[in-house]
Amino acid sequence: MTNARTNTPTNTPTYAPTHAPTHAMPSSHTPAPKLTGVAATALGVTAIRAREHRRPDRLFADPYAQHFLDFSADDAPTTGTQPAPTPELFTLMADQVAVRTRFLDDVLTSAARAGTTQMVLLACGMDARSFRLDWPPATTLFEVDFADTLAYRAAVLVAHGITAGCRRTEVPTDLREDWPTALCAAGFDPGLPTTWLMEGILYALTPVAADLLLGRVTANSAPGSILALDHQEDSALLRGARRALSEELVDLWHGGPTEALAPWLARHGWQPEVHTLEELTAQYGRPVPPPFDPQHPATGRSWLATGHLPA
Ligand SMILES: C[S@@+](CC[C@H](N)C(=O)[O-])C[C@H]1O[C@@H](n2cnc3c(N)ncnc32)[C@H](O)[C@@H]1O
Repeated sequence: MTNARTNTPTNTPTYAPTHAPTHAMPSSHTPAPKLTGVAATALGVTAIRAREHRRPDRLFADPYAQHFLDFSADDAPTTGTQPAPTPELFTLMADQVAVRTRFLDDVLTSAARAGTTQMVLLACGMDARSFRLDWPPATTLFEVDFADTLAYRAAVLVAHGITAGCRRTEVPTDLREDWPTALCAAGFDPGLPTTWLMEGILYALTPVAADLLLGRVTANSAPGSILALDHQEDSALLRGARRALSEELVDLWHGGPTEALAPWLARHGWQPEVHTLEELTAQYGRPVPPPFDPQHPATGRSWLATGHLPA
């Protein structure tokens, strides 16, 4: 299968910090790969989380997000201490990312409190949940993504001496391929109930790849497992904002499952609970982001969902 990252585009998006770097990078830090293609989208989400962290009314704290961004800017041309303008895409997606992060934080931490000890963060990108959330010491978090994404992430963690309060295992792999073999080789136990996270990934997969991913998750889920995910539809508004940042971002969107989330999850054996973004933004006191506002024409919808496998 072709790896999207090897098709190096001419206009790969770069995510220079929209805030002046807060920490000087240690001069001896390990060189990290430059993230391109879909892997680079992890830094876009991180830029939004770094901004959310600075809000007085933030929905979650992520003090690590700025470190990941500063690292990407380390070899970028300097423009003094002036922050770069905020891309329109980040403004449009800010409340979706804030609400989804908080919602999924709550799902994972309540699963841990209820006794799940094994969590798998699929397509983890710069997800800092291993570091920023309180985990019972018996918890193991598996962080799964492309090798380059994990290498970038690891370089930042080493440079800043960031360690997790739980067991943490990185699993470099491609989620369109046989990743369960790599996960099991890394110590994952399919006999234990697992909490799975699929955040910010379904849109990047074709319908077939999304279905295969869910099938593999299900095949490796013991009774009592939980799955948490977000999903969104594309729209002219989002396509325009992605194109303004990089033409490549328009093509990275493959749409994910074509079925509605509830029947899709149910068909794979999960008991689904699906929330619309507008329901959750109301709950968390945020406006409905324009690309997902059903009041506006030509927009899409966004959802957050959980699935349970009966114990
Ligand atoms: C938008 S980011 C989301 C990252 C993270 N889940 C979050 O919400 O912060 C998408 C992530 O999916 C990863 N990804 C996309 N396609 C993948 C694949 N086929 N295999 C492994 N990782 C993939 C990218 O490397 C990137 O880290």
